[in-house]
Formats: sequence, structure tokens, C-alpha cells
Amino acid sequence: MCGIVGCILKDKEKPVAPILLECVENLDYRGYDSVGIATFDGSIHVKKDKGKIPEVDEKLNLADMPGNFGIAHVRWPSTGVPSKINAHPQLDQAGTIAVVHNGSLKNYDELKGELIADGFKFKSTTDTEVIPHLIRKYMNEGFDLEHAFRKTIERLDGSYAIAVICEEENNKILATRYQSPLKIGVSDDAYFISSDIPAIIDYTRKIILPAEGEMIILDESGVKVHDENGNEIEKETVLIPWTAQMANKGEHPYFMIKEILEQPDAVEFTLDEMDNIRKIVDDLDNIKNICFVACGTSYHASLSGKYLIQHLAKIKTDVVLASEFKYTADTLDEDTLVIFISQSGETLDSMNALRIAKETSPTLAIVNNIGSSMTEEAKYTIITQAGPEKGVAATKTYIAQLTAIYLFAGLLAKDDDLIEELHKVPNYIREVLEKSEEIEVLSKRYSFAEDLFYLGRGFSYPIALEGALKLKEISLIHAEGYASGELKHGPLALINHRVPVIVILPPGSDYEETMVNLEEVKARKAIILSICAEGDGKAECKSRDVFTINPNVSEMVAPLVYTVPLQLLAYYVTLEKGHDPDKPENLAKVITV
Ligand code: F6R
Repeated sequence: MCGIVGCILKDKEKPVAPILLECVENLDYRGYDSVGIATFDGSIHVKKDKGKIPEVDEKLNLADMPGNFGIAHVRWPSTGVPSKINAHPQLDQAGTIAVVHNGSLKNYDELKGELIADGFKFKSTTDTEVIPHLIRKYMNEGFDLEHAFRKTIERLDGSYAIAVICEEENNKILATRYQSPLKIGVSDDAYFISSDIPAIIDYTRKIILPAEGEMIILDESGVKVHDENGNEIEKETVLIPWTAQMANKGEHPYFMIKEILEQPDAVEFTLDEMDNIRKIVDDLDNIKNICFVACGTSYHASLSGKYLIQHLAKIKTDVVLASEFKYTADTLDEDTLVIFISQSGETLDSMNALRIAKETSPTLAIVNNIGSSMTEEAKYTIITQAGPEKGVAATKTYIAQLTAIYLFAGLLAKDDDLIEELHKVPNYIREVLEKSEEIEVLSKRYSFAEDLFYLGRGFSYPIALEGALKLKEISLIHAEGYASGELKHGPLALINHRVPVIVILPPGSDYEETMVNLEEVKARKAIILSICAEGDGKAECKSRDVFTINPNVSEMVAPLVYTVPLQLLAYYVTLEKGHDPDKPENLAKVITV
């Protein structure tokens, strides 16, 4: 999704553009098709174009702009095609007000019509362009920048994080947010606003979290936050436990592999949240039902949660896709805990569902991004401790989500054995990672495929779904995850000697039935890769290839371990196909539309 940044340096002589460029480069994982910067040094300077940051930088030399403050943007289009004109910053007619915007405006057509009738001329086909024109309209009526901006905001219907600079009031950046993320950063030399913490983490870990509707004013003397009535309010500054190093690739070629390798730590650090989780569980004594709500990979983590909670705590548990949530919302009540799983804490489908759910039910958000919107809206929050994740495909945040969900379920069911077992997971994952070369070799044998199936049963069904999603989103190979018993009800027709089938076969009560399903695809000449326990002679003899896991990993904790070779497979197959695993086609890390 779009990302915005603003920065004002205390030193008037120092140019801000190189810093803004570095910050938007750090936002590129959100997905974008164009980039732009506006700075001020007596007048507003703008450089922007369609294209990836290195291409646009090569053409325009983005770091070479005068002025000690400015705003920047990476654009993922919601209204208006990718083009130079549609790239942000968007300007008023005279080029004296510059605006960057993340979000989308539902009523821009109506506002545009009104502004055109007033004589304003539009250059772009974006929704954003109404914002600088509206600010100019109100400034023409005699309002100062802050009041004109406030009046503009009152006219907008939609989601937004917006930052503005203006030639007449040329010592400040104004910003605000509604249903789109925005953080304030404070360092010794500069003040920042940013869509996401990783963009500014190289400069500061001191963050202020503005609430919706608050007005942020950055100038050389500091940060002010005003409430909706224009009164200054005190805001707490929090120290983010992330470091710049955590948000950088280091020696790794891609974020995805760095993040896969960080998974043992993600589990260990999330296990340290046990006391916080216990407090939440203690507070939820009367819960009769649970409903998980999530999208994509987070949905798969939720599905594991359903299997586990039903199995251990015997509490009826549903899982609903966030985009479908409104169709089941009527069945909620105060005895149902609604759990939102999200790495970003910003996904709009989940946010919309959370706003509905909290009307009737207690809500819990399990998120990775500190200070994200869901942490503001949910009654309870668990922060997974995976650190910043920049690869578009979720890996370590998924394993951290599972860790938090498993801890929650273990504490809810008072199952000490599970908690003990969870503490062994980091080492089980390390053992898998030590054998990642085996997966690299296997990837060469499977990258030819045009269609793949992943099969699992019970606790292993979500593993199959997640393995297939990882592969399809980054390698662009069609893959389906199936409950292995369901295959015979249709998709078995697609199995033949050209189709690899990956079977998730941990030891346990589902093993024999899954083996029957393996036989079914083997009879149709499928190419079988089994992910199974070390020493599983049966799987070895019936599969073309196997990847083996420590036999002590039970089927119940298998999602935390058996998923890892599938992430690696997706990664290496993607490299084999010549794609960038960090930036898959048409996808963005944070989906706020
Ligand atoms: C896939 C992936 C997505 C996200 C989904 C929800 O690798 O990352 O499927 O899981 O977009 O995002 P969050 O978890 O941020 O709500």
C-alpha cells in the first residue's frame, strides 16, 4: 500500500532529501509503483515519477533537492493509473501546497465536481488531488494552514494518513490520520512522521502514536499534537524494542531468507510474553465461544488455533475470513471472544471486522506491529515478538502468531505439557534450518511444476494451506492446499504424473489416514514429496522424495515446525524461477484498502 514520510531537520543548512529518500526506500516492502518527494527552501520543490525507486532516482537524482524539511511518498494506486502525474506529492494549482496521502477517498468525485465548479483545475486522476485544492480554497477564504487543513479533513469521507507542506506557512509539516497508520518519530536532530516504524528506525526508536483525528504539527522546535478542537495534548513517547539492524537485510540476499532464519528467535521472544498472555486468559474466565478473524497467512494461523482450542479447551471455535465477517457478525454475543490475528495490525478487512465485533463482544488482537491500529481498537492485545518483517510473504510473523496462539490455548486449557513442548520448538526449527540445503536441492526437482497440491489432515491441514499460499504468492506457480480426505471429492481428477503432491505426515493419530490419501495420489502417478518424521520408512518407500523432521515433534505442534521446510521450498523454487521472493507481483505487505 502507499507509504508516507515527512521529516524536518533542526539544522536549517542540512538537506532533508537524502533522508527522505532513505526512509521511502525502507517503505518499499509495502508495494508501490511510483515515488515522489517535495522539499522546501523558500519555495516547494517536487521530484516524482512512475517506476521503482532506483529507476526514478537514476533519472531525477532524488537526493539532490534543497531544503531542511519535506515529505515523501511511495504510491500503490487505488484511484488513477500509475503515472508521473498521478504520483504524489499532489499539488494545488500554483504548486504552493504539497500533499502526500495514504488511503482512499470515497467522496472525491463529488468534491472534485465542487472544486471544478469553483474554478480549480485538476491535473491528475487521483482522489488525493482534491486535498491540496480544498486546503487552498479554505486558505483563500482567510483560514490559516492548520484551520484550512482541519476544514479539509472534515470534508473527506474515506481513509487517510496525510502530510502537508505549504509555502505561506513555510516552517512546518502538518499531518493527520483516519483509518490509516501514521507514527511520529523523535530524534536528537529531527522530527518525523511515517506510515511505518521500519522507515525511520535508522534514525530513531522514540515513537509517538497519534490517535485518529489528531493533528500533528512538526517544526524545528519540536512536535505538537492537537485534538479535534485544536487544543494541544500531551502524548507519551514510547521506545520501540526494534533496532535498525533488525529491519535491514544484513548479509542475506533477501529479507525472506533472513526472516525464515530468525524464526527460532521469534518463537523464543514470543514465549517470553507468557505472563502477559496469562493475565488476559485469567480475565476471560466466562468465555463460552471463540471466533478467530483474519486474512491470508494469518487466517491459516487462526485455523490452527481453532483445531488446538477445540481439542484442548473444548471451547467451540470458529474461524472467519475478515472480508466475510459481516455475514456472521449477527451471531456474536458477549460470551464470544473474537480474536483478530494480523502481522501488520492494519489490514482494512480485519479492522472493519474489529469495529463491528467490539460492539457486542470482547476482542483480542494478536499483532506484530507495535502501535498498529488494531492495538488501539481491541480490548486486549498480544504483541508477537518477531521484530520487523519486510518480506511480503509472512514467515516469522506467522510462526510467532502460532506461538502466541498456542501459548494462549495452553494457558486456557491449563495444559502444562503443551507449554513445555513449545519451549522445545526453537530447537526443532533450528534442526530444520540446518538442513535447508536439502530443500534447495529439492527445489530444483519441483520448480518445473505448473500445478502443485499440498495435503494435510487435522492439525496438518493449515500447514498444507500455508505451504501452498507461500509457494503461489512468490513463485507464481499454481498451488492448492487441501484437507487430504477431501481430495477424492473432486480435485483427485487433476492428479497425474506431472503433478507434484506434497504430503504433510507428522507422526500421530492422523498418520494412517493421511497415508491412505498418499496412496490415492500415488495410484494416480503423482510425484510425491513427504514431509515426515526421521525414520519414517513407510513414507520413504512410498514417496519420490522426503524431507524429515525430528520424530519428537508431535502432530499437535507440527504447524510450528513442519511449515518451515515449506517456506524454504517456496523461497528456493522462487529463486530457481528467477523471481524476487521479497516483492511478489501485485502484492503489498500491508493491505489497507
Ligand atoms: C501472505 C501474507 C498475507 C497476509 C494477509 C493478512 O504471505 O502475508 O496473506 O497474511 O494479507 O495480513 P495481516 O496479517 O497483516 O493482517
